[in-house]
Amino acid sequence: MTAIPVEASASQAQALAAIRRADDGLRDRFADRLAVNHDLDRSLVSFQANKAEQRHRWCKYKEGFSAELVRYVLKKTGLASSPILDPFAGSGTALFTAREAGLDAVGIELLDSSAEIIEVRNAVAGADQRQLAGALAAFRDRRSWCQAGKQLPFPHLRITAGAFPKETEQRLGRYLWETGRVEDPVLSRVLRFAALCVLEPISYTRKDGQYLRWDQRSGRGLGKKAFDKGRIETFDEAIAAKLSEIASDLDEKQRGCLRRLRDQPERAGRIELLRGSCLEILPTLPANHFSGLITSPPYCNRYDYTRTYALELAMLGVGEEAIRKLRQTMLSCTVENREKQGLDQHFDRRRYAAATRAVESQGVLSLILKYLDGCRRDKTINHAGIPRMVRNYFAEMALVIFESARALKPGAPLVMVNDNVRYQGAHVPVDLILSDFAEQAGFEVEAIWVLPRGKGNSSQQMGLHGREEIRKCVYVWRKANVR
Ligand SMILES: C[S@@+](CC[C@H](N)C(=O)[O-])C[C@H]1O[C@@H](n2cnc3c(N)ncnc32)[C@H](O)[C@@H]1O
Repeated sequence: MTAIPVEASASQAQALAAIRRADDGLRDRFADRLAVNHDLDRSLVSFQANKAEQRHRWCKYKEGFSAELVRYVLKKTGLASSPILDPFAGSGTALFTAREAGLDAVGIELLDSSAEIIEVRNAVAGADQRQLAGALAAFRDRRSWCQAGKQLPFPHLRITAGAFPKETEQRLGRYLWETGRVEDPVLSRVLRFAALCVLEPISYTRKDGQYLRWDQRSGRGLGKKAFDKGRIETFDEAIAAKLSEIASDLDEKQRGCLRRLRDQPERAGRIELLRGSCLEILPTLPANHFSGLITSPPYCNRYDYTRTYALELAMLGVGEEAIRKLRQTMLSCTVENREKQGLDQHFDRRRYAAATRAVESQGVLSLILKYLDGCRRDKTINHAGIPRMVRNYFAEMALVIFESARALKPGAPLVMVNDNVRYQGAHVPVDLILSDFAEQAGFEVEAIWVLPRGKGNSSQQMGLHGREEIRKCVYVWRKANVR
């Protein structure tokens, strides 16, 4: 790794100035639609606001947006007919909020731990809620896992070994063994899911951006500074609290708007999850079919879901080789992602060519890529994989956008949450570049809602460029009516 120079060289400064001018030009083009939206705030556009939402709160999925945001989007875009699509479904916030509004929804998700959340919530929705709540509470109260008996060994990956205090891992193993003995498949799966939801608080780890951060008590001397995550919950207290939370959300007396759905079951929408990569699945979906799309793709920010969710993936039995494959199949957003081989074979030739043209003709993007390639050659880049990641991120997102345009009905909205990023001092206006692709794919860019307060630079970039704010936005595009 090479340190970033405090001063950019003269040619780098020139390249940065050219990028800034082109960025300004693109911003001028969208100026009448790019505006701060004071209805929104960071908590609404992140998982934060889900903490008080029954069911959405079960699994702390930090990369998610909130159910409240989805309700706002449905209202603002007038999206009131089925089906809706989320090609990066995550924990399923868009799907389940649409369902609560009586809409059918289709989600695509690649990561096993995210797909598990959706599948479990879907299975729960189809079960007898009161009975399930009672069975969960009874299992909790029996505490069978506290008695001596067999354990299911936790199937650790190399990067998860030693993640739990010894006694915690034994209790977890006992619990998993006991859940395997439960005959009712839905109950058994929900019990196992409850354990999945508490892996972080009972471990020495914390999900922290690109990697799992390890508490010093683990004995894994990772990181330069010793990290102390504070009190680590025991397995017994964590699992009891989680089972209580799920049971209470299922209990009809407390179900609020979900109770209304139970009273009128014909009003609740259906959810279908397609497991796999949206780069392969989107081209197989019917054309002009979906009434709307609400999504949040991975950001172009080096965030590695397969490392952050390593504990959950391990528990689900995803092995080392499968993890490597998963990392490579995900939308390119880490410096390790290589070019995806044979991607074109999934797409209609003309659409693939059109998406590629949109990428290659994007002026700001070309300048940014040229600059980053130069930084890599000069060895002044923070990581040599950054230019490839940025290049592939936009190439893959262009394909997603072109395929989404095909799959949506004319007049249907597409709403996307995403962050801009900065590399080597170059601001990457993800919002404007993707909106440019969207126009070429047949969308009208209705609005780019900017969140009231952007985030500052990462500390690595501060020395070079001061604290300029980077936009976090919600894009609202609409498929043109006549194509
Ligand atoms: C920002 S999260 C979505 C969060 C979601 N909006 C929610 O509220 O839970 C992005 C998701 O995209 C998934 N993903 C990444 N690459 C993918 C791909 N090629 N196909 C499908 N899903 C992918 C990740 O696993 C992650 O769950």
